[in-house]
Amino acid sequence: MEHKKGREGFSSGIAAFLATLGSAVGLGNIWKFPYVVGENGGAAFLLVYFICIIFIGLPVMISEFYIGRKTKKNVMGALEILTPKRKWKTIGIISILASYFIVFFYSSVGGWVYSYVFKIIKGDFYEVTSQSAQDEFVRTIIGPIPPIVWQVIVVAVVSLILALGVKNGIERITKTLMPILFILILICDIKAVTLPGIGDSFKFLFKVDFSMLSGSVILMAMGLAFFKLSLGMGCMMTYGSYFTKKDNMMGTAAKVAISDTIVSLLVGIAVFSAVFSFEMKPSSGPGLLFMTVPMVFSKLPFGTLLLLAFFILASIAATTAMTSMCEVVIAYYSEQKGMSRTKAVLLNAVIILGIGIFATLSADAGSLLGKFTIFHMRLFGLFDFLSSNILLPLGGILIALFVGYVIPKEDIKKELSNEGKLKLDKLIDAYYVILRYVTPVLVFVVFLSSLGLIEKLIKLFH
Ligand code: TRP
Repeated sequence: MEHKKGREGFSSGIAAFLATLGSAVGLGNIWKFPYVVGENGGAAFLLVYFICIIFIGLPVMISEFYIGRKTKKNVMGALEILTPKRKWKTIGIISILASYFIVFFYSSVGGWVYSYVFKIIKGDFYEVTSQSAQDEFVRTIIGPIPPIVWQVIVVAVVSLILALGVKNGIERITKTLMPILFILILICDIKAVTLPGIGDSFKFLFKVDFSMLSGSVILMAMGLAFFKLSLGMGCMMTYGSYFTKKDNMMGTAAKVAISDTIVSLLVGIAVFSAVFSFEMKPSSGPGLLFMTVPMVFSKLPFGTLLLLAFFILASIAATTAMTSMCEVVIAYYSEQKGMSRTKAVLLNAVIILGIGIFATLSADAGSLLGKFTIFHMRLFGLFDFLSSNILLPLGGILIALFVGYVIPKEDIKKELSNEGKLKLDKLIDAYYVILRYVTPVLVFVVFLSSLGLIEKLIKLFH
């Protein structure tokens, strides 16, 4: 009825929520969140992150849902429907570019995670010391063949889910796996609380020290907020286009943002209680997760089983999140370019692997590719930096400006309240004001501050 003929969608509000949560919860929570919080000093960074979630993340997410559900189209198709002006297509171009940049390195980290599941089953983590955990991580990322094979496996699994379609693939997988993931995290936390480092873990995560903040730290926090909630590149637009007309989009956005943050914190508490229990450094970088978690669990009864549970959980999260970033491109290829879904999935897999393997190889600093840097970043880090810290916030500003200034307010009200059926008037008003006057300004200011401009201005007036 509401769905255009032949176009798939999620079957219920709860399915839409779980699928969207499946997109948000990913390696961002399990791998990136702990190490980025660790590198940037903990609580103060977290505070900025929360502010970004509320004033940037939520409004952008609601706007993306609006565009998607209103048009029931892929990113490019949606913009074509909403405006004749070609310049807004930039949002679509950023979306496709960002989707690939992210997936190039994401699939490689996904490969490391999958390979850990295999290694744990094989018994490689029987007696773990701080040194052996570090050695194992180094062995994992040193190529050339094994990390690429694992990356191929991840891409194959994601492609299979995508090929099954929105209902049979994405919806079914997220509905089954998200609750399991949550239970596994809780089990890991129950163990983590018994570790001696738990007090320091809480202190690190919740005791604010403002001296840790700087322009680049704030940019990282904003980038992480975009990355965590899958925003700024049409992912939430595409998922929004599969929502039913009965879903409460503002409610879903709030539930997803809150649940995602809870999951990040639960993982953070576990990882940092390990870090502080075994005197590791919170600022160990991208290897943090891979070096700490095996240490914690190896010291506990049933440790290997828990370790296995943790890495299975990470694999689930990586898979459902990666599926969502690819769906942006699949929907585009199949609706705009008229490809069959299968063909679109295959083409997508070929592109990811064609370039993604270079990201994987570059993660090893000792390799030939690892020595090649641009702006002091290896290919792996460059893809991450360009997508999270530049493309996503840029996409976010454009989305906020587009919905805030091009779409008439009445249309937004009608869509967000499901034609007046939901009584959300006050909330919609608040959202609209923040979207127009706070979100774009905040993103812009963060950009400026990361360039050091604001610090210079402050000095000028002192
Ligand atoms: N949010 C996911 C995570 O935390 C990653 C992700 C999925 C993503 N889809 C995205 C990031 C779209 C940016 C844009 O792991």
